[in-house]
Amino acid sequence: MKIEVRYFTRSGNTKKLAEAVAAAVGVSAKPVSEPLTEDVDILFLGSSVYAYGVDDAVKTFINGISVKVGKVVNISTAAVIKSTYKQVAKLLAAKNIPFASEEFSCRGSFTVLHKGRPDENDCRQAAEFAKRIVAKEASHD
Ligand SMILES: Cc1cc2nc3c(=O)[nH]c(=O)nc-3n(C[C@H](O)[C@H](O)[C@H](O)COP(=O)(O)O)c2cc1C
Repeated sequence: MKIEVRYFTRSGNTKKLAEAVAAAVGVSAKPVSEPLTEDVDILFLGSSVYAYGVDDAVKTFINGISVKVGKVVNISTAAVIKSTYKQVAKLLAAKNIPFASEEFSCRGSFTVLHKGRPDENDCRQAAEFAKRIVAKEASHD
């Protein structure tokens, strides 16, 4: 099974989460500036929200996908909103790329809020989530 992890980060929060996910499933996490070059079964996509939604770099990455993606799985950090699911869903729908209903999201530090998040516990939970997703997908093969 081919698995890729991409993320966008400004202050490192989403990168931390993406790296925990990537390590759990045995791949390396790469920034969204690195396009997918071959078909993938599962793409874990890490993003966050900055006032008006996800960063344009995430939009550019999704719009630029030219390989077959079996399923995108959302991972995100945010200070207030629950997750970036809705924003990412819209971008993927426009490209007809399947989006998993399961996602992992946690708090990300922002100014005085949520110091240290994602923390060890968040990363452990993200890793368990990723392993569960991959095991579930493998059982469908
Ligand atoms: C300019 C800016 C605007 C933000 N706006 C929001 C927001 O509208 N809602 C929210 O939940 N978090 C907001 N945040 C918090 C970030 O989503 C949070 O810190 C996130 O973990 C950042 O992830 P990153 O370090 O991977 O970039 C904002 C952060 C910045 C820097």
